[in-house]
Amino acid sequence: MSKPPIASQMRLDRLLANMGYGSRKEMQGLAKMGRIVLDGEPIKDADTRVPVTPDLAQRMTVQGRPLDPPPGFALMLHKPVGVTCSHKEAGALVYDLLPGRWRMRDPAISTVGRLDKDTSGLLLMTDDGGLLHRIISPKSHIAKRYRVALDRPMSGDEGALFASGEMMLESEDKPLLPAALEVLSPTEALLTITEGRYHQVRRMFAAVGNHVTALHRDRMGGLELPGDLEPGQYRLMDAANLADLFGAA
Ligand code: URA
Repeated sequence: MSKPPIASQMRLDRLLANMGYGSRKEMQGLAKMGRIVLDGEPIKDADTRVPVTPDLAQRMTVQGRPLDPPPGFALMLHKPVGVTCSHKEAGALVYDLLPGRWRMRDPAISTVGRLDKDTSGLLLMTDDGGLLHRIISPKSHIAKRYRVALDRPMSGDEGALFASGEMMLESEDKPLLPAALEVLSPTEALLTITEGRYHQVRRMFAAVGNHVTALHRDRMGGLELPGDLEPGQYRLMDAANLADLFGAA
């Protein structure tokens, strides 16, 4: 079950503590010193209830800096190769690419599904459990497109098999939903899938005797990884990005 929706108003000390700025007591101290400003006016009393709306980041400053994104946000990250989609594995994690304070947030930020450590490209992250479930729900039919580089030239039979709706992966008992293959060269292709099974793309090519040497996700639904978003960079998603994601590819 998803968490209840974010309250539309929240006590200032609780909101900022939940956003990782410090303890409620510390927030009360900051407020008293006039270091928390809303619409140009200091809020001296941290009991004050403030509106939790996306524009709060443009209206509030904390110690002279714009507020972090308020709860209920989503971002797109250009995941580089070599970082893991996990909260607690050894080595570099996708969460290390975000500001440190964001790790202390409640609700916590999670990845929307996962990409393998060796896969790069478009990864969404959000603190909104309802949105996360909507994106990953099979009912949303959000297609994911991958650019694939292969060890060996394709035989030419892959496209028909992947599109058949009858392909079985090893140790699974349900066939894969049809997937679309667009061949770019003998060893490069775009593959669009609508499921998210474990290591799905690598296993599909392994099943036809090939080996994926590089994998990059460049699109989810109608949302493309922005060309100017470098590996390791992230950008907050706006309403238009969400409409693209849920709209037709
Ligand atoms: N398929 C894979 O094999 N790996 C990914 O990271 C995503 C899809």
